[in-house]
Amino acid sequence: MKIEGNLFLITGAASGLGYAVACQLVQNHASVVLIDINEEGLKKAVEQLGIQARYECMDITNELQAQQFFKQLKGQKISGLINCAGIAPAEKVLKKEDVHRLESFSRTLNINVIGSFNMIRFAAQAMSQNEVDTGGEKGIIINTASVAAYEGQIGQVAYAASKGAVVAMTLPLARELARDAIRVMTIAPGIMATPMLLNMPVEVQQALGDMVPFPKRLGQPEEFAKLAQHIIENTYLNGEVIRLDGAIRMAAK
Ligand SMILES: NC(=O)c1ccc[n+]([C@@H]2O[C@H](COP(=O)([O-])OP(=O)(O)OC[C@H]3O[C@@H](n4cnc5c(N)ncnc54)[C@H](O)[C@@H]3O)[C@@H](O)[C@H]2O)c1
Repeated sequence: MKIEGNLFLITGAASGLGYAVACQLVQNHASVVLIDINEEGLKKAVEQLGIQARYECMDITNELQAQQFFKQLKGQKISGLINCAGIAPAEKVLKKEDVHRLESFSRTLNINVIGSFNMIRFAAQAMSQNEVDTGGEKGIIINTASVAAYEGQIGQVAYAASKGAVVAMTLPLARELARDAIRVMTIAPGIMATPMLLNMPVEVQQALGDMVPFPKRLGQPEEFAKLAQHIIENTYLNGEVIRLDGAIRMAAK
């Protein structure tokens, strides 16, 4: 899929990995719609990105908001959806005097899985209406999982379950959407230097970086964005999950 001149939707784009993807695509002359619940962050991001960017403040888990958003986009050709919105809470199953809250478990699955899927279904519908481009494609969907899908740590039961579901959705989505010339890929990042991590004490960041075999540091959001760009441009990538993690395999805790 060509980037230049095409329109891409990016969720979670007010911050971190989503914002980095928005920058990368704008640098490559795409138009982007940044989607997030953080309106202040969206405004700042769009200001930085200039006229190729606009935003939609919405909750990706909200069925009606998503429906209305895609309705309002009708007539505009969407070439891709990059799902980066997500949360990463930590909670143990057995706490001192309590157990894991069911509410926080459902909330994590609701945002990371159902929210992503809510956007996927409408984006797929919109992209299926496109004419095929010169590469024979109508659209591309990229989701964000995590290495926690494979090596969830203690305290990550909800997060790991949610990212495992994102991994598991990849192949059936790619298989079904193949007939509509839409590819589906997932990136499973390791430890990335986004606000989520940069708010931690420097020693903790250092310790996390030291756990990575090579290179011994946190991943940069730009490295995620470059991979997203490659996935968009490489038509033969489909139905697969790519780890972006410097060979880290997370320990139990
Ligand atoms: N940073 C890491 O180390 C890392 C590692 C593996 C996976 N990931 C995944 O990458 C994705 C992006 O993470 P990040 O590090 O950029 O985090 P981040 O917190 O910087 O960005 C996530 C964005 O998602 C938005 N968001 C949350 N819930 C939403 C909702 N219901 N509707 C719309 N927007 C919503 C937030 O407002 C935020 O702007 C997440 O799915 C995260 O799980 C991150």
